[in-house]
Amino acid sequence: MGRIIIVSNRLPITIHQNGTGFSYRSSAGGLATGLNSMDRSLERVWVGWPGEEITLPAIQEQVLEDLIQDGLVPVFLSKKEIELYYEGFSNKTIWPHFHYFTQYTTYQDDYWEAYSLVNQKFADAIKPILQPDDLVWVHDYQLMLLPAMIREFAPQTSIGFFLHIPFPSYEIFRVLPWREALLKGVLGADQIGFHTFGYMRHFLSAAYRLGGYEHLYGKLRVGHRLINVDVFPMGIDYEKYAHPEIDLYANDDSFKIKQLARNKRIIVSIDRLDYTKGIPQRIKAFEQFIERYPEYIGKVSLVLIAVPSRSNVDNYRKLKQSIDTLVGKINSAYGSFDWMPIQYLYRSLNFNELSTLYQVADIAMITPLRDGMNLVAKEYIAAKDETKRGVLILSEMAGAANELSSALLVNPHDINKMAEVIQQALEMNENEQVWRMETMQQHLKRYNVRHWANTFVQEQKRLMEQQQAFN
Ligand code: UDP
Ligand code: G6P
Repeated sequence: MGRIIIVSNRLPITIHQNGTGFSYRSSAGGLATGLNSMDRSLERVWVGWPGEEITLPAIQEQVLEDLIQDGLVPVFLSKKEIELYYEGFSNKTIWPHFHYFTQYTTYQDDYWEAYSLVNQKFADAIKPILQPDDLVWVHDYQLMLLPAMIREFAPQTSIGFFLHIPFPSYEIFRVLPWREALLKGVLGADQIGFHTFGYMRHFLSAAYRLGGYEHLYGKLRVGHRLINVDVFPMGIDYEKYAHPEIDLYANDDSFKIKQLARNKRIIVSIDRLDYTKGIPQRIKAFEQFIERYPEYIGKVSLVLIAVPSRSNVDNYRKLKQSIDTLVGKINSAYGSFDWMPIQYLYRSLNFNELSTLYQVADIAMITPLRDGMNLVAKEYIAAKDETKRGVLILSEMAGAANELSSALLVNPHDINKMAEVIQQALEMNENEQVWRMETMQQHLKRYNVRHWANTFVQEQKRLMEQQQAFN
């Protein structure tokens, strides 16, 4: 086999321009952090968008030169493309719709046209670099048309597709006017992967209802091709979080984070600021917890990290305002000179800070309303590898709940119950914390991100060899 060509909308590195200069930062989000931890034994090329509009040709050239050294191939997008393809169809149509926020789904033909054109732009970027033995692996909802587009010019190439977000039930999917085209795009792949059995089942049902494709044990026949549809739950780089090299003297906030936990217990909440993550409901549950159990006042704080995300999209901006208001209301009502109920930060953390926070947190509260997987939950468990102490409160609606059944599972809409579960977590005895942690750690150690990527790629290779023997 030749190289592996990874294609995703976002590269693991994002550019930030300031005046005429620019700098690079690691991208946040499960896809970028997860894929970036993959085994490097195979030669890898990663095609994707570097995250901002770059107009100056000199900067484009410099970026191209810098990234190529790390096997990254940038696809530059114009302001209009970012607005219509990325903020528009990807994040105002597919993202809300697939997460069951159909009240936020925007139906606009110009978004759709831009989505098709930018998918074609990615195909055009892949064409000149593709070699005969390469295996292509396309990722996520921004590029659902790409597998079929690559198939057009490279009919013999092995193409995989992985969806990192939920695939909704057919009743939801069928509402989209572009449903057939999206399905046809994905069916250009030889192998299609999902995080959970539920998402896979929904996809197979859509393939049957819309295209008449019947499956046999997850194998779909489309024309003369046999497509493998399967479940590959994504893991994390376990060792990286279990034994992080934390530098408390680094020029960041890790030492302050450590100090924060000296005299009180910490509940941590970390996500991109996104309406799917259930942040307001979580804050309300914490408010109700301090109302119902006032003995904890002054003794427990919620550290709420909201990572800026998609801030040009209206619903994200509105959510930011409502979280600001909610946190202000609670802090002003319950806070004192020596204690704030909620320590709220609207920024991203570096790995040093993130690991420190995981380590000091007595509880992680991760309660999305819908989430394809949720890697933060897995990272928190790994970070407790040495102490085995800590409690994970996890939403039933996160893909990760299928694997982490020893967490305290909650319905993220049930605010009463979540308040009660916070108290239960704070009172949990050490023995129970240890057995729950150990059970989950054993699973995550084994099913890590390397296992995920290797299983997907090995399976795709096997299929390719079978097809070649058949032809
Ligand atoms: N993350 C990060 N910086 C932060 C907070 C989070 O890089 O300040 C990472 C985190 O370690 C995790 C990813 O972002 O790997 C979030 O992935 P997850 O699957 O939890 O959610 P997503 O953002 O993909 O919806
Ligand atoms: C989720 C999506 C990814 C996306 C990430 C961050 O994890 O599945 O495809 O990259 O969120 O979002 P952004 O819009 O900043 O790329």
